Amino acid sequence: MNATLLKRLFRAIHSGSGQDVETLCRRIVDEEKKLGHERVAEDLGLILNKVSGSKSERQPASSTQAGALAPLPTSRRDSAPLFHEVTLGGLRHDMVLPPAVESRFQRIEKELAARSRLATFGLKPRQRILLYGPPGCGKSLGAERLAWNTGLNLLKVRFDTLLSSYFGETLTNLRRVFDAAAAAPCALFLDECDTLARSRTERNDVGEVNRITNALLEMLENYQGQGLVIAATNLDSSLDSALFRRFDEVLKIPLPAISEIYRLLTTTMAALPTEKSIKWKEVARDMDGMSCSEVVQVGQNAAKHSVLEGRKTISAEDIRFALDEIHERLHQAP
Ligand SMILES: Nc1ncnc2c1ncn2[C@@H]1O[C@H](COP(=O)(O)OP(=O)(O)OP(=O)(O)O)[C@@H](O)[C@H]1O
Ligand SMILES: [Mg+2]
Repeated sequence: MNATLLKRLFRAIHSGSGQDVETLCRRIVDEEKKLGHERVAEDLGLILNKVSGSKSERQPASSTQAGALAPLPTSRRDSAPLFHEVTLGGLRHDMVLPPAVESRFQRIEKELAARSRLATFGLKPRQRILLYGPPGCGKSLGAERLAWNTGLNLLKVRFDTLLSSYFGETLTNLRRVFDAAAAAPCALFLDECDTLARSRTERNDVGEVNRITNALLEMLENYQGQGLVIAATNLDSSLDSALFRRFDEVLKIPLPAISEIYRLLTTTMAALPTEKSIKWKEVARDMDGMSCSEVVQVGQNAAKHSVLEGRKTISAEDIRFALDEIHERLHQAP
């Protein structure tokens, strides 16, 4: 086991910071998984989730713990929920990222875990995060990972109910969402936030759009919650520049480089052995320009092809088959 992690865990226990202990335990689970100790990782994860679950059950109703959230707010007019809540157990968190992006993710997680220590020096963690970049490279997955690593439930805003056609109702809905996010620690996720805050120059119905954009800016600025507000978009240029400035961290998740394509492909196919003759460099180079999501699909389809052909090892031919299939599909795409 990673000695640095162990030392940090012992220090956190010594300092009595329950939040730090939990975050570090989650790191250990991750680490064990990466080492291929799936069974140990699964057992440790289950214990940890039970501990967090029983901790939140012990809290009184007025508690500010993530597990003790008040009932989700609903749209006043038709009582449809304004967000969908994903609890810790349902969050995905394994990601392949360029080292520089990975370390910026880790910095956000570390700062939030150390928020009480930072507060003693009058410092605040980064809490307002904007993730942007091309489709299928991990913006939505990144939000889940941030929530998982900080031990928070993820509240995914449902824009379909939030964006009401009734005049003025969208603003009320937005306010209720931010009020709920401030009431208990959670990771509030505004996915595809450009739906809400399109550039002022891009639309003609400027009145209502401006009001919504301004309200969003104000709510972001006044956010005093204990958790995170994460927004995601695959646009950059047409987003309002004032919106960019309201975030503590603006993180671009780019297309995977060759080395990330290789890592992603091999981890996706890790359940089956692969033939020694596969020329990985060539395969990864062939996939240059693909999104992470497409790379994952190639890996899964190659593995499925091998299984369906009755073999127990993934061959170069299985990968070629999956690659031809995706190239053909990308070629057909409008
Ligand atoms: N960095 C990554 N590491 C591992 N898997 C990834 C990564 N990025 C994407 N994936 C895979 O691709 C799928 C889609 O990714 P995700 O939904 O996070 O993309 P996105 O950036 O939010 O795309 P969109 O702009 O279309 O919303 C994920 O469920 C996961 O399987
Ligand atoms: Mg997404």
